[in-house]
Amino acid sequence: YMVDKGNHRHFMEKEIYEQPEVISHALSHYVDLASYSIRPDIAGIDFEHLKGLAISACGTAYLSGLVGKYWFERYARLPVEIDVASEFRYRELPLSKDQAALFISQSGETADTLASLRYCKDEGLSIGAVVNVSESTIAREADAVFPILAGPEIGVASTKAFTCQLAVLASLSIAAGRARGRITAEEEREMVRHLSEMPRIMSRVLNSIHDPIEQLSRELSKFRHVLYLGRGTSYPLALEGALKLKEISYIHAEGYAAGELKHGPIALIDETMPVIVIAPHDRFFEKTVSNMQEVAARGGKIIFITDEKGAAASKLETMATIVLPDVAEIIAPMVFSLPIQLLAYHTAVFMGTDVDQPRNLAKSVTVE
Ligand code: G6P
Repeated sequence: YMVDKGNHRHFMEKEIYEQPEVISHALSHYVDLASYSIRPDIAGIDFEHLKGLAISACGTAYLSGLVGKYWFERYARLPVEIDVASEFRYRELPLSKDQAALFISQSGETADTLASLRYCKDEGLSIGAVVNVSESTIAREADAVFPILAGPEIGVASTKAFTCQLAVLASLSIAAGRARGRITAEEEREMVRHLSEMPRIMSRVLNSIHDPIEQLSRELSKFRHVLYLGRGTSYPLALEGALKLKEISYIHAEGYAAGELKHGPIALIDETMPVIVIAPHDRFFEKTVSNMQEVAARGGKIIFITDEKGAAASKLETMATIVLPDVAEIIAPMVFSLPIQLLAYHTAVFMGTDVDQPRNLAKSVTVE
């Protein structure tokens, strides 16, 4: 399979800009645009009778699963147990046959994720796999395969696979919500309409934030430590933002749930450690703003990633504010992934690191 960078400097940049197109492709597999509904034939998991869902994955795939947990619990009232695969496989987690298990993996070959899958299979659970490589071992051993259809991902730091995993998990959580009577047909139409608008919104965002992010990245590349904060589905995004930044720029970055700030990381706050806050104007916004105030009161520099309503509502002084359009709750995690990916990318470019092949990391980890 021949893949080239096209007009881009790195595969990672190309893969970031490809997202509107590949997400649209992925969505067309799960969503019927004529009726604005999730395709009934995607199921493969009997969500209606499920008592719980176990999710296991590694790295960025684990973080998409963490967003999925919020969705399955909120939209389908389906309890989710999730862990990184290297822990999950040895936890001897008590499972029962009225639960299903979902494994998320771009490559479909990650050793720990595969071992978790085999553990759940031995326990008699039905197994779903959210994978990019459909011929992979994880796909072969699963009962139901949910392809993310992102196309080959070459950059070691995962970008388009992450947002395509999210698009698939969003679709599955809507399907689960419908099957469990927690989402009405009308709500489903509304959510699917939002999903279908996402590729267009993402293109617009990619164009509008390029310059401000590049400018901000020049500043960010001067720091040695960065803290990322978020609440709700923005919490896994904070973890992903920190992961992406450390992976390719080698700047020490940590992601925290905004509410945990006062339980530790606040001790580190001074003008040498910027705090990147991911806060769309959602039901958590006010709470996150009060965490920002705690940072500001201690002389911390704030980089605020928000939407138009959020920008209008906050009066805090920031080092930079990145403003995205106001979008529906279900698509916010995908749209807010774009600035955190681009921020990591451009910062790494300023640092002069090997963006596509960061030191010590592998695209696919097939040994324990
Ligand atoms: C490695 C890669 C990450 C990836 C993780 C899980 O650490 O560098 O980008 O998220 O493995 O890989 P998988 O193929 O299972 O998604």
